[in-house]
Amino acid sequence: MIKKIQDANIRKQTVVLRLDLNVPYSNGKSSDTSRIEKTKETIHHLIKNENRVVILSHFGRPNGIINKDLSLRKLLGYLNETLNLDIKFLPSLEIDLWSKEIEAAPFPSIFLLENVRFSKLEELNDPDFSSKLASLGNVYCNDAFSVSHRAHASTQGITNYLPSFAGFLVQSELKALSLALDKPLKPVTAIVGGSKISTKIELLNNLSNKVEYLIIGGAMANTFLSAQGYGIGVSLTEKKMIQTAKKIIQELKYKKCKLVLPLDIVCADSIIEKKEAQTFRVDCCPIDKMILDIGKQSQKNIMDIIDKSKTLIWNGPLGAFETRPFDQGTNNIANYAANRTSKKQLISIAGGGDTVSALKTSASISKFSYVSTAGGAFLEWLEGKSLPGIESLKV
Ligand code: 3PG
Repeated sequence: MIKKIQDANIRKQTVVLRLDLNVPYSNGKSSDTSRIEKTKETIHHLIKNENRVVILSHFGRPNGIINKDLSLRKLLGYLNETLNLDIKFLPSLEIDLWSKEIEAAPFPSIFLLENVRFSKLEELNDPDFSSKLASLGNVYCNDAFSVSHRAHASTQGITNYLPSFAGFLVQSELKALSLALDKPLKPVTAIVGGSKISTKIELLNNLSNKVEYLIIGGAMANTFLSAQGYGIGVSLTEKKMIQTAKKIIQELKYKKCKLVLPLDIVCADSIIEKKEAQTFRVDCCPIDKMILDIGKQSQKNIMDIIDKSKTLIWNGPLGAFETRPFDQGTNNIANYAANRTSKKQLISIAGGGDTVSALKTSASISKFSYVSTAGGAFLEWLEGKSLPGIESLKV
């Protein structure tokens, strides 16, 4: 069982709070600050109880080197605005220096330490660095589910030195994920899209033991279609994975999980925006064209499966969603799932990689039961792995 921050009765303490502020950022702006939005509940809870809060986070992958472009200072404005607080930025990892300043600060106060990945010791989960980070406070709270698959100093090592608790975001992620796979309402359908089987083998294996329908879309489906002997023209595929796809298809025959592949395909010469594209039966892909989306018949098939399902887990787009009209399959299915969710006929959970940006184009994502903030952590969880940052918060 996880130790929850609200059960710990923490008042007038100094709380080291791990967040994941790793938001997409370019040209001086973030295109998606939902990870920042979702930190509100825990921060406000800690401040309301007159604690000092010291925020730790990474930003990008600086590989242990100080890199101004990846300074957390860039996000200070977003944080202050979202939280309506005045956060003091600690612009380096000189922990001894900052400890003194924090100790002298009144209750409540709030600080943001510079990107923890500016030290290579963070990713090495170095015990001395972990204990240094711990010396910034006397309680630790992890509200960074999306980086909890990393055993790093600020996510795992630090828990060896401080009483450690889960924040509200971690709690809601865990609740939603367990609703999807541990104790789901059945039948459960998983949609797995995206381009590469090679990164999703463990996930497919784990899901095939837990769900009733496994729907494969995106370029991943091309490799499965090749494995079944269909021509796929000049589509994106992983030739080296065809044998693996064959093995997965074979194994699924002995499991209670039905594999669902496209019945019809939307094809074009290349991925460029156009008004309309041609649809072909799956066994009629022209040799000079690429498969870029699923067709209407496949969509109808998936909708029928969703009608039979009580729970839907979604990871990865069904087509080349960044380019119209190849976003249609993903959009139509997302809208359908969102409507069933609104009518309380479906529990729908989405997350991982570019899933959220793919589903966002349909504007229906807000109707999903839960949208995870996590990319890699969501995938590892779907693979059935335990997450080191979460394991360390258990009683
Ligand atoms: C993410 O964006 O998935 C997390 O912040 C983890 O980032 P990482 O893959 O660089 O560890």
